[in-house]
Amino acid sequence: MVAINLSLGLLMMFTVVLFFTALFTFIAKVPFVPTSQRVVDQMLEAADLSGNEVVYDLGAGDGRFLISAKRRFPGVTAIGFEMVPLVWFLGKMRVLFSGQKVQYRFGNALKHEIRDANCVFLYLITSLMPIFAAKFDRELRPGTVVVSNSFPFPGRNPIKKFQVKGIVGKTSVYVYRWEPKKV
Ligand SMILES: C[S@@+](CC[C@H](N)C(=O)[O-])C[C@H]1O[C@@H](n2cnc3c(N)ncnc32)[C@H](O)[C@@H]1O
Repeated sequence: MVAINLSLGLLMMFTVVLFFTALFTFIAKVPFVPTSQRVVDQMLEAADLSGNEVVYDLGAGDGRFLISAKRRFPGVTAIGFEMVPLVWFLGKMRVLFSGQKVQYRFGNALKHEIRDANCVFLYLITSLMPIFAAKFDRELRPGTVVVSNSFPFPGRNPIKKFQVKGIVGKTSVYVYRWEPKKV
């Protein structure tokens, strides 16, 4: 009897977690698809960091950009936002186990100001790019580096575009020096 109750309890918990993960992923409009470490490394390289910048990952997934940035450049301030609770929890665990001092926060990246950014990493989806571009126009200082995995910003010219070969196909990376359009 105890075993049945325990199994039912676990099943219910699992269902609730699954439901909220699906709900928040639906709200975020982007599923959690991690960037491969190879692409992370190339994107960090492309950002041309000198080592004391404030670096953001907007939609930080499991925190891999923040951890890698901090490992490579211990002097950077690495900040990320993730809005799906289960993904955030996994990321929080990963950050804790990495031992790296990164600021990995739960929340909607669109609702937090990033005026102190020197560099922003993104891996989102086409429909979100204009929304984030408008945020960047409001908040980013001219010349802030923005590096996007797979999705370009419509109407903006990247200073660099390259592809990284993976096991399945190639990943395009777009690098911008953000020049805010007047709003
Ligand atoms: C494709 S994954 C990329 C994760 C990580 N940046 C990487 O490259 O490995 C996109 C992540 O962004 C999160 N996300 C999407 N919109 C967001 C928002 N407005 N605020 C915070 N997180 C968001 C999703 O939940 C998802 O985990």
